[in-house]
Amino acid sequence: MNKGPIGIFDSGIGGTSIWREINKVLPYESTIYLADSKNAPYGEKSKEQILQLSVKNVELLLQKGCKLIVVACNTATTNAIKELRDSYHVPMIGIEPAIKPAALNSKTKTVGVLATKGTLSSALFNNTAEIHANGIKILDQVGTGLVEQIEKGEINTSKTRELLQKYLEPMLSQGMDQLVLGCTHYPYLIPLIKEILPENITIIDSGEGVARHTKNVLQLNNLSAVADGESSSHQFFTNGDIDVLKFFLRDVSVPYKAQFLNF
Ligand code: DGL
Repeated sequence: MNKGPIGIFDSGIGGTSIWREINKVLPYESTIYLADSKNAPYGEKSKEQILQLSVKNVELLLQKGCKLIVVACNTATTNAIKELRDSYHVPMIGIEPAIKPAALNSKTKTVGVLATKGTLSSALFNNTAEIHANGIKILDQVGTGLVEQIEKGEINTSKTRELLQKYLEPMLSQGMDQLVLGCTHYPYLIPLIKEILPENITIIDSGEGVARHTKNVLQLNNLSAVADGESSSHQFFTNGDIDVLKFFLRDVSVPYKAQFLNF
């Protein structure tokens, strides 16, 4: 048993969508979340820059005593997870676009993937796509500008809707029946995406799978906290706008602290 916190980081507030799934599956676990909003979007940066920023975040989480790290960012995972795993002794959980279930579910054999440029151009993503794309057409679409909109809290504005329409409509007209959300910011756009896509299109994200995987890895490494009557604690740090972070946590019902930190 280990009562240390799980460390979670993202280029901004997007990974709070993963934090939600983790808290649902692992309510006894304490967490520390870093929103590196000052450096968002990671998706337009080089592999080296993404690795440097990821190392900075991991170092801070380790200083704060984290027992396991969740890289709650597809862009950081696909560009840096191998190097992070090679450099640090704590378990590292990553997140990648869920192409496999989408490919298995697709009746039209056409899967859309909406993700950042950094993710879609990474070797890890392209290898995974190749493995699962057997007989499946994968339509990659870079979601340019979407992370910026979400980081401003604009999850339901006409500009965000226009961007989504521009990206989703061509995929629809090419026969996509599964849309993979390959960026942890995008689950916050699901209500808007549902207004644009017909009901028969399945929207897939990896959050729940990551939470289940985190639970398994904690158990395998004897790192799980136990339900001992003491409540878990949750701390969120942002180096960006604290009001935006609070906006994305407004419906969180467990006690937590959210604060600005210059990291
Ligand atoms: N949430 C990050 C991801 O999953 C967004 C990347 C970015 O900052 O561009 O890819």
